[in-house]
Amino acid sequence: MIEKLFKKISPDEIRENVFSLIGKEWMLITAGKIDHYNMMTASWGSAGVLWKKPVIFTFIRPQRYTYEFIEKHAHFSVSFFNEAHRDLLNLCGTTSGRDLNKMNVEGLTALETPSGAVAFEQAKLILECRKIYYDDIEPDFFQIFDIEKIYPTEDYHRFYIGEIVQVWEK
Ligand SMILES: Cc1cc2nc3c(=O)[nH]c(=O)nc-3n(C[C@H](O)[C@H](O)[C@H](O)COP(=O)(O)O)c2cc1C
Repeated sequence: MIEKLFKKISPDEIRENVFSLIGKEWMLITAGKIDHYNMMTASWGSAGVLWKKPVIFTFIRPQRYTYEFIEKHAHFSVSFFNEAHRDLLNLCGTTSGRDLNKMNVEGLTALETPSGAVAFEQAKLILECRKIYYDDIEPDFFQIFDIEKIYPTEDYHRFYIGEIVQVWEK
């Protein structure tokens, strides 16, 4: 039960700097259902406000296994961990769920959120999200040349905007 381990807070009660959380500590994006889910590490994204809602933007390349799950499901989660879990984030960021069943990764215990998303007991902070919008990065719209170098194989990210329906803090 997520309520036993985490307390509900509002997005504006998140004390940590969002640039550090996403860019340095990294996040684990998890999509699917408790009996069939997959997760991947991400360090690109942002959190803020859009359409009067607290939101998070996540960017997922189409070849990720996680992409299949986030496409299919209405909810997903974003989990943040303390430094002791860096190895797990490295594993989930370098190995595809197509090659390793990440549901069996030792050290990560899945839990279900009220909306049916999957997150992890070991997280320090969980954003429970409802997918409200997606779009694909359109190279014609790049305004600086540098960005194209990020995509030598033209695998432009699809970005998903998730409404943060609940923040859970340990
Ligand atoms: C620090 C770090 C940050 C990453 N950020 C992203 C990201 O924002 N978007 C993305 O598509 N892949 C990102 N990746 C790569 C995926 O996590 C990686 O390809 C992963 O193995 C995909 O797993 P999957 O195929 O099971 O979904 C990142 C990897 C690391 C190590």
